[in-house]
Amino acid sequence: MSHETDSSEYDFVVVSNRLPVDRITDADGTESWTRSPGGLVTALEPVMRQREGAWVGWGGQPDIDIPPFDNEGIRIVPVPLSPADIENYYEGFSNDTLWPLYHDVISAPSFHRVWWDSYVAINKRFADAAVAIAAHGAVVWVQDYQLQLVPKMLRELRPDLTIGFFNHIPFPPYGIYSQLPWRTQIIEGLLGADVIGFQRVADAGNFSRAVRRLTNYVTKNPLIEVGNRKVIAKAFPISIDSASYEELARQPHIQARAREIRAGLGNPKTVMLGVDRLDYTKGIGHRLKAFGELLADGRLSVEDITLVQVASPSRERVTAYMQLRDEIELTVGRINGDFSTMSHTAISYHHHGYPRDEMVALYLAADIMLVTALRDGMNLVAKEYAAARFDGDGILILSEFTGAWDELKKAMRINPHDIDGLKDTILEAIAMPKSERRARMRSLRRRVLENDVAKWSSSFLATLTEATRHRLPELEGDPLGDLEWTIERPAGGFTP
Ligand code: F6P
Repeated sequence: MSHETDSSEYDFVVVSNRLPVDRITDADGTESWTRSPGGLVTALEPVMRQREGAWVGWGGQPDIDIPPFDNEGIRIVPVPLSPADIENYYEGFSNDTLWPLYHDVISAPSFHRVWWDSYVAINKRFADAAVAIAAHGAVVWVQDYQLQLVPKMLRELRPDLTIGFFNHIPFPPYGIYSQLPWRTQIIEGLLGADVIGFQRVADAGNFSRAVRRLTNYVTKNPLIEVGNRKVIAKAFPISIDSASYEELARQPHIQARAREIRAGLGNPKTVMLGVDRLDYTKGIGHRLKAFGELLADGRLSVEDITLVQVASPSRERVTAYMQLRDEIELTVGRINGDFSTMSHTAISYHHHGYPRDEMVALYLAADIMLVTALRDGMNLVAKEYAAARFDGDGILILSEFTGAWDELKKAMRINPHDIDGLKDTILEAIAMPKSERRARMRSLRRRVLENDVAKWSSSFLATLTEATRHRLPELEGDPLGDLEWTIERPAGGFTP
């Protein structure tokens, strides 16, 4: 097979539901694109620059149908979604079927055949867009649950490609997964990849069990034999660009802002912080219940402690998210109504997203970071908190149902369903001696700073390279060449 390369062909293509850029419309109607500050794009940018890199994804608004363009060294390839596509593929099948199903059915998933049809059609649209720009033998890395059919579609269209897939959210146990009417199609879709990455060892195990139950493929951990191909399915826990959080936290103006935040709260003895997308998986209600009871029991006083809760708006047209917002805001209002005084507010609640500078200032201002997720693929906020605490202080209370718990064992572990246990842990955290706080934080920081997102992506891509070496004879020549995935780290680095 020969395939001419030209300037519109790229040998490293990332495919994700959202593009790493946001469209901004100025007051005068001028449109521009700004880079959204996620860890994934930071990690992949050096690879994108080193090789001919392109990113295929949705621009975040309906009907953005514009030709590919360059943005800060990355080729951006927008995939248009109409209002009906958004309703059926994104809000429907992705976020009202797969999202609740993959998060332990915390909210009941809805199964609608029209949503599934749209999911198939839109996955095909993403696959076609990737294929149109991928050079012969290119590496295509597909991201997340919205695009699980894309690996198989790519393989059918272009057997020359090397295909990776990473699932950013949990993969559920078979007893739950089996509810999905299209369970076999999704498994087959994913098995189109050469390497399938998961956040936790348990997720990879759940996936392999689903493969055994639904297909005749032989699994020999971490390999799955799919015809004459071997697919690798294993854990690659994602991380953040840790050094950049530390770097920001070290800046005097961020530290001044942290002091200002505390002063604005009336300088309570303890500031406790929650930072989440407003999502029912995050256990925000459980956290509020525990805090409200501690105030009601008189075990905490509003004079001494404030809970700052950042709940960034998310998926606001999906019913379960609308209901959640109503519930959370009712609870916050009740707790504040019952316990706040003229000078002290029990819960400082913010339904906004904030820029990274402000988040880092909040992390520095918070004595305790509270992560109470009922199920979470990773929880990067837990890692951001540790990375920001260059001063070696601060306590992380962490749900055992997050991927982050698998790595951050020196956090204070909680089961968010156990409200009494959560209340006791909050009190223990408040009373914890400084020496213990510092010892725990040292360990958390070591993990987070050593295992950053650059290490995550290079380890995934190195596995992908290895995985495809054995099938090179099938391909003409050596399309991977002397492929090496070295990812630069931002300057600064870890200072223990
Ligand atoms: O990791 C889970 C995820 O759904 C990502 O795919 C996504 O970028 C993020 O959460 C935010 O969700 P959304 O794109 O639906 O706003």
